[in-house]
Amino acid sequence: MTRIAVYPGSFDPVTKGHADLIRRSLAFSDRVVVAVAVNVTKQPLFTLEERVALIRETVSLPGVEVRSFDGLLVDFARQVGATMLIRGLRAVSDFEYEFQMALMNRTLAPGIETVFLVPAFDLTYLSSSLVREVARFGGDVSALVHPAVQRALTAKFTTHSGSKA
Ligand code: PNS
Repeated sequence: MTRIAVYPGSFDPVTKGHADLIRRSLAFSDRVVVAVAVNVTKQPLFTLEERVALIRETVSLPGVEVRSFDGLLVDFARQVGATMLIRGLRAVSDFEYEFQMALMNRTLAPGIETVFLVPAFDLTYLSSSLVREVARFGGDVSALVHPAVQRALTAKFTTHSGSKA
């Protein structure tokens, strides 16, 4: 039986923390489908197409596929035949939201389990929103994201403000 995991998120943009979890998921899954949410609550910095392309550049591994999804996560997971949803737990602050989401997803789809993964120690406090903020003000994010993402952030903030902030 093929074990398929879905790793959902906004990925605005993908970080080394996300890449670390994708690699870790391959230890217990045959296929990992990285699922990029079309509808994210806040206005994303990167378009859906950009977010998908940047994940593909960051993680190019056999067994990893990047797709976008709209609507309920569990419906997408069923469509691709997944039995697991992967989420990262970085700090206590993540816990309440993640726990709520896991329980709701289980109510909606009892056959699909949420698997929480702990990221690498040095990536524990990394988030897409912090990366966006640091990059917006011209800080160095090279240790936190793939070079393609770094270039995309530079281009985005240069285009947006006319000059680098
Ligand atoms: O990276 P994020 O923003 O924490 O990802 C959140 C995401 C996209 C996984 C979550 O908002 C989601 O699953 N959205 C799809 C709609 C859905 O299924 N909502 C119910 C989840 S309880």
